[in-house]
Amino acid sequence: MNASTEQTKKGTFRAPVDYSAKSGSGLDVEKIRREFPILRRKVRGQRLSYLDNAATTQKPQSVVETVARYYFRENANIHRGVHELSQVATSHYESVREQVQKFLGAERPEEIIFVRGTTEAVNLVAQSYGRSQLQKGDEILITHLEHHSNIVPWQMLCQATGAKLVVVPIDDRGDVRMDEFERLLSDKTRIAAFSHISNALGTINPVEEMTRLAKAAGAVVLIDGAQAGAHVEIDVQRLGCDFYTLSGHKMYGPTGIGALYGRYDLLNTMPPYQGGGDMILMVSFEDTIYNSLPNKFEAGTPNIAGTVGLGAAIDFLHDVGVTAAAKHEDELLEYASGLLSERKGIRFIGEAKERTGILSFVVDGIHPHDLGTVLDQEGVAIRAGHHCAQPVMDRFGIPATVRASFAVYNSREDVEALVRGIDQARELFGD
Ligand code: ALA
Repeated sequence: MNASTEQTKKGTFRAPVDYSAKSGSGLDVEKIRREFPILRRKVRGQRLSYLDNAATTQKPQSVVETVARYYFRENANIHRGVHELSQVATSHYESVREQVQKFLGAERPEEIIFVRGTTEAVNLVAQSYGRSQLQKGDEILITHLEHHSNIVPWQMLCQATGAKLVVVPIDDRGDVRMDEFERLLSDKTRIAAFSHISNALGTINPVEEMTRLAKAAGAVVLIDGAQAGAHVEIDVQRLGCDFYTLSGHKMYGPTGIGALYGRYDLLNTMPPYQGGGDMILMVSFEDTIYNSLPNKFEAGTPNIAGTVGLGAAIDFLHDVGVTAAAKHEDELLEYASGLLSERKGIRFIGEAKERTGILSFVVDGIHPHDLGTVLDQEGVAIRAGHHCAQPVMDRFGIPATVRASFAVYNSREDVEALVRGIDQARELFGD
């Protein structure tokens, strides 16, 4: 057995699948659903309508099988062994790095660092680049839309260096105030960090324009792509950003694996984030010589199984087509918004100009957690809460929202189950 005989395509174990509908231009959603065994299970005795995809997506069979097959047939530590299994595992792991490179449009594979997910990626940049480069008086620009993982690491960096966190406001629709974004950028701005897509409201930020403005002001730009991987085509060279982050589990891959893209020249100058095995070339008690990229930032045995699973998830996304997926989710968003608009007492939170398949709302007289509990009884999984974005909730003067978020395997039936559940809750709570 060797890598070439075991692997059929880009390090995974399946031929491409055509998910386009037999007639029309859309997706064959039934065929997609068959690829997700979890969707066949009942929840509370009901058909499962899984609408919590912004928290984590379900995993296609191909991803689960790739991870299982890795453990059944390939498991060994990477970059270390002369033996066959280690070589196969290393080759599979590194082939996924090339897949992620192509997926993000990066120039070279060494620009891709495997991490746990976006949270670790942002912390890596804050602790490595930030701590070595920033000092008192410098500014870090973020927006009011950010997830806690793109706020707290920068606050920690400010505490360590004396730098200042500057926050760009959003408007009532949930769009970043671009006039303020431009105004708040200055020669003090050393880092600008913003999400590609808001997890709480679904706003798609004009990241190309934001990057252009921030770079013109001399800042280093990080884009939090946690919500973007499965919904928009990404090209880091076209965007011109310095860093871009991905979370595998929000794009049909396993939990605990993600990627940080960093511009080669920049990564090369940054100190390591963690010390340990694989990130060194030579260690003595007097001195240590660090490894080159990307190993310098991958200390210790990485999540090899998660990485090969991420490769299978990218294959799945290629098969479906990110643009086709986004179109399908937009149609569901429109269908759900239409049905809910016909009902009184529902307030949508976030109606940005550009949005992806995330619908955040509150229902008069029903706490989001109560609504979530009623929906759960109907087999409808949504998220109720602040979505790790408390400043966004504060901006709209609410503690929480109900959030339905769509994926390629959702159908109109799921939307109808959501709306039916809301109607039942309103009856129950005396509307
Ligand atoms: N960040 C995840 C969410 O938005 C957990 O639900």
